[in-house]
Amino acid sequence: MIRVTRIAEALGAEVEGVDLGELNDAAFEEIAAALVQHEVLFFRDQDLSPEEHRRFAQRFGPLQTHGAYPHVDGVPELTILESDRENPSKIEKWHTDMTFRRRPPLGSILRARIVPETGGDTLWMSLSAAFEALSPAMQSFLTGLSAEHSFEHGFRESLAEPGGRERLADMVAANPPVRHPVVRVHPVSGRRCLFVNSLFTTHIVELTRGESDALLGYLYAHVEREEFSCRFSWRANSIAFWDNRCTQHRPVNDYWPARRRLERITIDGDEPYGVR
Ligand SMILES: [Fe+2]
Repeated sequence: MIRVTRIAEALGAEVEGVDLGELNDAAFEEIAAALVQHEVLFFRDQDLSPEEHRRFAQRFGPLQTHGAYPHVDGVPELTILESDRENPSKIEKWHTDMTFRRRPPLGSILRARIVPETGGDTLWMSLSAAFEALSPAMQSFLTGLSAEHSFEHGFRESLAEPGGRERLADMVAANPPVRHPVVRVHPVSGRRCLFVNSLFTTHIVELTRGESDALLGYLYAHVEREEFSCRFSWRANSIAFWDNRCTQHRPVNDYWPARRRLERITIDGDEPYGVR
């Protein structure tokens, strides 16, 4: 019997009573529906093997591999995210993953292996709740606009490091800027989401730079309001599964120099579209 308990007003639910390593079709359907409803799901005590982690993710679609990150032996889709004294976590901004791609990921399934004694929570926010809180006039102004998203913009600090441009040259060449609607329609729920993020979005195409900078600045401040967020504290074998089409997330880097190791699988997504 699966129990789904909401953990915050805008998004997020804890799912209990399920073993993700042995999922029957009925349980899979329940989890898929819960993901769309709650936008990010949390599971505890899921001692999955790397193969079980992959098998669970594959039920939601084709998987991605990441040339830039190390992966678990024998499972190239299972990316290792590890930080410690020598390698502090570099990601500090709110973001939706990989919106610089024409088809950003559907979602990610992130599992904790080694967690620090204290700290190291992760925050998520709901881009649908953020959109719905805007005035009808602002909603209709934004609907129909498009924004450019850029790998180069998101990785500008890495590119500025010595040798960074050479190291990332292939990624830059393979990922020219793309345009997405500012207001994205979720392909399953039909809810509208505010699909811009400060990591990868460069500007709103239809506006002047000044207008775009001011409006994006307002929208970033708006989406980051705590009422649209939820917070999750990791334990070993906790899993977070987020819908990358309608959320952003941000790590809380309050545990350095402690060590943390997470393992992530990313599921391919479709091309974002606006109101038709
Ligand atoms: Fe991320």
